[in-house]
Amino acid sequence: MTLSASPWHLARRAARMNPSVIREILKVTEKPGIISFAGGLPSSQTFPVTEFDAACAKVLKEDPSGALQYAASEGYGPLREQVAEMLPWNVDPAQVLITTGSQQGLDLVAKVLIDADSKILVESPTYLGAVMAFIPMEPKVVSVASDAHGVDIADLAQKADDARFLYVLPNFQNPTGNTMNESRRAALSSLATERRLPLIEDNPYGDLWFDTPPPAPLTARNPDGCIYLGSFSKVLAPGLRLGFVVAPKAVYPKLLQAKQAADLHSPGFNQRMIAEVMKDGFLDRHVPTIRALYKAQRDAMLDALTQHFPDAGSRPDQSLTWNTPAGGMFLWARLPQGMNAVDLLPFAVEQGVAFVPGAPFYAGHGDERTLRLSFVTPSVDEIHRGVAALAVALKSYAASLPA
Ligand SMILES: Cc1ncc(COP(=O)(O)O)c(C=O)c1O
Repeated sequence: MTLSASPWHLARRAARMNPSVIREILKVTEKPGIISFAGGLPSSQTFPVTEFDAACAKVLKEDPSGALQYAASEGYGPLREQVAEMLPWNVDPAQVLITTGSQQGLDLVAKVLIDADSKILVESPTYLGAVMAFIPMEPKVVSVASDAHGVDIADLAQKADDARFLYVLPNFQNPTGNTMNESRRAALSSLATERRLPLIEDNPYGDLWFDTPPPAPLTARNPDGCIYLGSFSKVLAPGLRLGFVVAPKAVYPKLLQAKQAADLHSPGFNQRMIAEVMKDGFLDRHVPTIRALYKAQRDAMLDALTQHFPDAGSRPDQSLTWNTPAGGMFLWARLPQGMNAVDLLPFAVEQGVAFVPGAPFYAGHGDERTLRLSFVTPSVDEIHRGVAALAVALKSYAASLPA
């Protein structure tokens, strides 16, 4: 008697779930002692440990059964009110759904809005975690051309018909660090309204501006046409896994039902801790300290890049070039013509520095010359040493190429 093959018949969507290319790349870079510009982790220096310690004790003392019991899927009432209060447009707390990270918001959006073969639009490049959430629902993912100021409105106008939504990151985008300017936002908002194109606005980095706040969110301009995703990961701590969705009445009940099926509710204990920590305007005092830290680290990276790639201004075709993000955690760089960031990576790891190649962030064909550099995890000293190592790696890589 022969044993039959595996009894497990996987769903069609399972075949579309693949390991994150970036996680695979990160494994290569996890050598001890390596300076990593690769990960997207907030600096652990910014975690308000003392405040969480006090909040934890207080929550357990004052409301242990509330914190430890099953709870409403919508989220903890006072936290929903705080979220509504902190957003810069008129938000009814009834439209706020607390999620297990904003990543869960993306998953719920995918389940509620995408059928097999639905057309969905994304920026080019875009956040890989969103594409990973959308893909199992079998959409047709269409990239909209984007530049340093956001999506290209003319290209969007050609692609908008019949799309279920455009997924967009207007502030300090992951991976590019770019921010959509006011005129682009105004144009996008009116095109979306005119063409009845729903927007999914993902804004985990919006509070981390360095000199001036970014323009008003797209959702503030047309709340009925947008779903807004926010996160506590970058302003408090990602380990608590809490974020939120603000959704119009037409979709909120379905997102809520999808959430019920996914996890019943996000941890009530964590929600109470965050609500406790945020009481009395804590974020107004805390977030400026994160901005100052990240700004100093961005400046260190810009200084080091200018020092080690002095030809960027005069001979941009033959040098690494980069943008100047006005906030967030990432800087976007580009190699000279004929080079490929995936091929550069082993030379970089050899020199003790890591980054993430940019091509995997494109839903369609990626620009293989691009790379993402995170400036928030390493120290200023490591940033200088890491950029110096990157310059050496680039020289060795260039020398290895056929003349
Ligand atoms: C653009 C974007 N959206 C969503 C997330 C998910 O964040 P979280 O689930 O921690 O709120 C991330 C995480 O890095 C991100 O960069």
